[in-house]
Amino acid sequence: MSMPPGYELILHGATIVNHNGRHRTDIAISNGRIAALGDLALADAAEKLDCTGLHILPGVIDTQVHFREPGLTHKEDLATGSLSAVMGGVTGVFEMPNTSPATTNATAFADKISRATGRMHCDFAFYVGGTHENANQLASLEKLPGCAGVKVFMGSSTGSLLVADDDGVQTILAGLNRRAAFHSEDEYRLRDRVGFQRVGDPASHPEWRDVETALLCTKRLVGLAEKLGRLIHVLHISTAEEMVFLGAHKQVASVEVTPHHLSLELADYERLGTKIQMNPPVRDKTHQTALWAAIADGTVDVIGSDHAPHTIEEKQSPYPQSPSGMPGTQTLVPIMLDHVANENLSLERFVDLTSHGPQRLFGIAGKGRIARGYDGDFTIVDLGRTETITDNWMASKAGWTPYHGRKVTGWPVGTIVRGNKVMWQGELVDAGRGAPIRFDQALPARI
Ligand code: DOR
Repeated sequence: MSMPPGYELILHGATIVNHNGRHRTDIAISNGRIAALGDLALADAAEKLDCTGLHILPGVIDTQVHFREPGLTHKEDLATGSLSAVMGGVTGVFEMPNTSPATTNATAFADKISRATGRMHCDFAFYVGGTHENANQLASLEKLPGCAGVKVFMGSSTGSLLVADDDGVQTILAGLNRRAAFHSEDEYRLRDRVGFQRVGDPASHPEWRDVETALLCTKRLVGLAEKLGRLIHVLHISTAEEMVFLGAHKQVASVEVTPHHLSLELADYERLGTKIQMNPPVRDKTHQTALWAAIADGTVDVIGSDHAPHTIEEKQSPYPQSPSGMPGTQTLVPIMLDHVANENLSLERFVDLTSHGPQRLFGIAGKGRIARGYDGDFTIVDLGRTETITDNWMASKAGWTPYHGRKVTGWPVGTIVRGNKVMWQGELVDAGRGAPIRFDQALPARI
């Protein structure tokens, strides 16, 4: 009698959540990929993981993190940042180029890939920073295996990357074939309005970096993309006005929102001060409400955390000396599951925003849904579990979170990356096997 095939891992007893709804289905993994779905009660496996009562989502891909390596590793590094990701249920990240040196050439890019491979706890891709100087090399840089695409800062933030002018953005876009990501705040208006910063008052941050600063830049950017026929991804949208505008320009523009813009608002500066100082800023409740409406009507394509850690000492400098940014990759899943529990969005829409959305926009090969042949990446969650988020739980070097003390319902209990059980019930059980994410337009020569 022939034996059934032996699988590496079988996940059984859970409800899986996918593009086609929720189903009770077992999942078998071989060679890191999904080998079978269905009733696998009789199948053999090296390990069988009982997931009774849990929900299995396609692995959550956090399409915006800053992990600070090389150069700023007192804030974070690729190991600690990715540890924070997997402790929070994230299986893959796109990391930003505003490191030191910035990721603007093939050497710096190769250095990041080699630092990350086998050392990061989740899979990864790196953005290449677009500059005036490297514009004519970006077409080849964006095709490097493990590249998420090109990222451009049109307004200055942490680091020195900046392309403020239309000519610069146009030159960059003209050379590209892939979708490019943008930090959209108008640098000229930011410079004009520096006087709006009130020393010691981070609540003046959204007055300095006002709605018009974001809207003006997004209109310029979309105009250039339409003129050139290029695809753009507008990061961390924070205003009602941009959502109205972007909703009318979806043929070129995809849209990201962050958990903090959906969960924090102007009134929170009083309690949290510079901890919630971010670029673009956390704004008043009317904007938060509009972002939720844009989640509901489909304007928003993805949720990225914009994990941007700084030490607590740095954040305690009086505003505006305090740097902008907060950690967020570890809290993305619990904060958003709590919104699911509160019926602000469905679990299916969450999966759409954090798995299918990244796959669709960036052309990720073999990730983003639970399907045979896809990577065995899973975010396993307990929708009924209530926990309190604390600074102590944070694996980021930052060691703090603006959500300290927040009680949430819905919790990540398992992180599986290409069939490796990396996090289970809050423990790191298999360290450092991260590999580059593959893209349709940047596949390695040998797969
Ligand atoms: O607040 C921010 N901090 N926004 C950004 O765009 C960059 C980030 C950082 O790297 O600190």
